[in-house]
Amino acid sequence: MPQIEREKERPGETILEASGVKRVFGRGQVTVTALDQIHLAVPAGSMVALKGRSGSGKTTLLNILGALDEPSEGCVFLRGRKITGLPETERSRIRRTDIGLVFQSFGLIPLMSAYENVEFGLRVAGGPAKDNREAAERALERVGMRERMKHRPMELSGGEQQRVAIARAIAHRPSLLIADEPTAELDSKMGLQVMRVFRDLVSNSGMTIVLTTHDPGIMELADYVIALEDGKIVSQTA
Ligand SMILES: Nc1ncnc2c1ncn2[C@@H]1O[C@H](COP(=O)(O)OP(=O)(O)OP(=O)(O)O)[C@@H](O)[C@H]1O
Ligand SMILES: [Mg+2]
Repeated sequence: MPQIEREKERPGETILEASGVKRVFGRGQVTVTALDQIHLAVPAGSMVALKGRSGSGKTTLLNILGALDEPSEGCVFLRGRKITGLPETERSRIRRTDIGLVFQSFGLIPLMSAYENVEFGLRVAGGPAKDNREAAERALERVGMRERMKHRPMELSGGEQQRVAIARAIAHRPSLLIADEPTAELDSKMGLQVMRVFRDLVSNSGMTIVLTTHDPGIMELADYVIALEDGKIVSQTA
C-alpha cells in the first residue's frame, strides 16, 4: 500500500521553537517557578539532550514542548504552528498526529503482546484502522523488535520493552519524539541500544528528538546539549 509521505522539513530548518516560556506552579504565596525565560530553536532532524540536576525543570520543559502542559507565559511552535494557548482537544489532536512520547517506565500494557501494544496505541490515536497492522509492524521493525512482537512485556528485557515503547511512540510517524529519561531504568548496555535506535530514527527517518538524561555517555550521542539550572538555560553546546 503506498504510504502517504508527510511533508518533510528540510534538515536544519527550525522545527520546534520556544519563545519566552515561563511555567509557574501553584498560586498565591506558594508558587514554584519551574521554568523562566526559555528560548529554544531546535533544527529538524537533530537530537537534543536536556540536562540539569533534579528539579531544574527538564520534565516541565519536555511536557510543554510535547503539548502535554501549557506554559504560564510564552509560546511554543511546532512546524511553524503554535501549539500553546490552544484548547485541550486541539492540543491532544496535535499530540496524536505530530508528537510521540516515551517515558522512563516504558508504560506498556502487561497483558498485551508487543504488537498489540503498538497497534492499540494506533487505535487510541484514531487513524484509519485498515493501516494499523502494517504501521505497527513497520514501527516494530524499525526498532528491531519485529521478531519478538508476539511476546508480552514481562518476557522482554528492559531495553527491549523500551524499544517496543518507542515503536508505539513512532507508529503514527510523528515529526517530533519527546523522551523523558528513556534510559534511566536501563543498564548502560541496554541504554546504548535504545540510543542507537534514536540515532537511527534521526538519521534515517528525519525525526527530531528531544530527550532528558543524567547519563554523560548519552549526552555525547546528542547533536546539542542544553543545560538547565533553576528553570533557566545556562548553556547550549553543539
Ligand atoms: N505539578 C507541580 N506542582 C508544583 N511544583 C511542581 C510541579 N511539577 C514540578 N514542580 C516543581 O518544578 C520544579 C522542576 O521540576 P521538574 O520535574 O521539571 O524537574 P526535573 O529537572 O525533571 O527533575 P528530575 O531530574 O528529578 O526529574 C521542581 O522544583 C518541582 O518541584
Ligand atoms: Mg524529570
